[in-house]
Parts: sequence; structure tokens; C-alpha cells
Amino acid sequence: MPCGACNSLRLSSAPAGVLALALLSSLSRCSLLEPKDPAVSVLSPYFGTKSRYEDANPGLLPDPEAPRRDPELLEETCTPVQLVALIRHGTRYPTAKQIRKLRQLHTLLQARGPGEKGADATGGRNLGAALANWPLWYKDWMDGQLVEKGREDMRQLALRLASLFPALFSRENLDRLQLVTSSKHRCVESGAAFLKGLWQHYHPGVPPPDVADMECGPPRINDKLMRFFDHCEKFLTEVERNDTALYHVEAFKTGPEMQNILRKVAAILQVPVSNLNADLIQVAFFTCSFDLAIKGVKSPWCDVFDTDDAKVLEYLNDLKQYWKRGYGYTINSRSSCILFQDIFQHLDKAVEQKKRVSHICGSLCYLFVYLHKYGDYMDLV
Ligand SMILES: *[C@@H]1O[C@H](CO)[C@@H](O)[C@H](O)[C@H]1NC(C)=O
Repeated sequence: MPCGACNSLRLSSAPAGVLALALLSSLSRCSLLEPKDPAVSVLSPYFGTKSRYEDANPGLLPDPEAPRRDPELLEETCTPVQLVALIRHGTRYPTAKQIRKLRQLHTLLQARGPGEKGADATGGRNLGAALANWPLWYKDWMDGQLVEKGREDMRQLALRLASLFPALFSRENLDRLQLVTSSKHRCVESGAAFLKGLWQHYHPGVPPPDVADMECGPPRINDKLMRFFDHCEKFLTEVERNDTALYHVEAFKTGPEMQNILRKVAAILQVPVSNLNADLIQVAFFTCSFDLAIKGVKSPWCDVFDTDDAKVLEYLNDLKQYWKRGYGYTINSRSSCILFQDIFQHLDKAVEQKKRVSHICGSLCYLFVYLHKYGDYMDLV
């Protein structure tokens, strides 16, 4: 889901043919007819980086293990030589910070005196009461960890990739698979779940062993590569630890669009507007998404906002990602050079080896999986 991407994968194989680089994003293009999905709200299109994977790629709904691809891609004339995938982690819990804010809101709701100001015509009292009674089931230990659904996301992704590229994912190529992950718990776990999905592909019906006992070994942790932003001094100084770098975001948080929502939500919940702020509202909004993605339930938080509010909150998130991770500052993208250099070097090597030793099948079969933390702002597959 939503929040936090963290895998990438590369794989090469030898048979004669033309290099084809398969981009995972092409998998998300086919949207078939959407079955009635109870885990969808009118707010779903506005969750941005916190969207459910199924909402970004509705093709997952009818059969999450069935490969889909652009029919133009990899026709007879093309043979995949290497596959690289940069993969985000699976569906995860909210972070401890988000859970803390949610608890703050919950406390605020429960502190309301019964019947004060009376129930108004908006039905606000009912919604406020429903939210106060809605169990706050997120606990501190969950802190951004992968949920069971997230493991399923990764297993299914592995199965789809393996059936999309059978030549690359052949048994004899397995020891050429390289999976790299960041040290983030959800990313390490995503890598393990991905490998278990592959195991299922090769050994249907046989329970997977511990990843440490698999042929390809467990995911390798490399934060320099996968958490490049944490190792880029310039990015840390100028953006991450710079209180004024996000001044546009701060301005929007206190601007008229947000103020409107704060007033509106305060009226609906019947709490003082001075007790609310943009961060709390944003967490409430994302809670609708988390409950849908993790539990498949529509929480009353989904009823607090309409699509006009959702557009404002979507913009707020976009604005933050723009300045912190996107085009806002040049260093944001430049900090990823280390990772992309690594990817392109391996691609070059695969092409080079292919030219030289194309008769030795299998000598250039690589599969690299990079697990990183881009998930917080990048939607993949
Ligand atoms: C922090 O960000 C502001 C706004 O972009 C910039 O003017 C300032 O130079 C930055 N500070 C540092 C230490 O880079």
C-alpha cells in the first residue's frame, strides 16, 4: 500500500535476442472491469502515496497472481536479458508518529461532554460519537511494520513476475537472483515474503523454509544503496533537517483551504477548532485508507470528509512530497544517483556479457531485488 516502497529486482538471461527492459509500471496499466469492492471509499482516488495497491492497479482484484502485461512488450522478437525491479514494501501499519496523532484525536473526541451544544442538523453528534466509540486498534508496536496483507502483496508480486518472465525465472537462474533491501523492518520482511512467493512458484504446495536456507539466501541489507537519502549530507542539511525547507507546505497548512476543513471537521466532531491542526486532519484522512487497506473496513473517518476536502488533503500530501522527495530541490533526485548508477552498471554488464558469451546460456542471468524506503512517496505496481 500506501506508504513506503521498498524493493527492486533485476534479472538477466542468455538466449539470443534483443535486450528488453521490463518496467514494472507497465503491469499496472490494464484495468479490467472492477468488481464491487467493499474496501473502496469515494476518497480512495485521493490517498496519493497512501493508496491501496489495488486502487492503483485494479487488475489485481480479479486475480492477484495472474500476470498482466502490455501485449506490445516482449513480443517474439524480444528476449529478456535482465530484469531490474525497484519495489516498494507491501501494505504496512501506520507509523508510531501517525498512531500517536490518531490517539490524540481519539482522546479529544472522548473528552467531549455528552450533548454539549446539542446535536445539530448535520448529524455531527452521531459521527462524533461513532468516532469516539470506534476502537482505536493501532498499537505503538505496529510502527510501520508490514501487515499480513503486505506479505501477501509481495508473494503475489513474485508470482506475477515469475510467470511474466519464465526464461529469467528458470530454476537454474535462481542462484543469480540478488535481492537487496534497506534495513527497515518492513522492507526486510517484504523481501522475505517475496522470496517465499518465488518458492511457491518453484515448489508448489511445499511449505517454504526460512529464507536463510533458500538457494539464493536472504535479502542483503544495503542502506547506502537503498536509503541513499539518509547518506546524502547535502540532502540532510538542506532539506531533511532544514526547518524552513518546507515553507510552502507550512503555508498551505495554515492557509484558507485548510482552515475551511479545520472549521468544518471541528463542527462535525463537535470539538474546538483550536484543538485541531492540519497534521491531525491528515492522519484522520489517511486512517480511512489504512482501515480499508489493512482491515478491509470502512471506518467512520471516511465519512468525515467529502471529495472537495479530499482534493485539498491530496494536494497537501503532494506538496510535501514535491518539496521533500520530488522536484522541489535538485538534491532530492540527485541523492538517488548511487542507486541508479548501480542499476545501470549492472545493466551495462549484462549487455556486455551477452555480446561476448552469448553461447553460455545462463551466464548472465541476474535478478536483483532492491528493497528500499521510497514507499513513503512512490507508488509502484
Ligand atoms: C533551508 O531551506 C531554505 C529554503 O529553501 C534555504 O534558503 C536555506 O538555505 C536552507 N538552509 C540550509 C542550511 O541549507
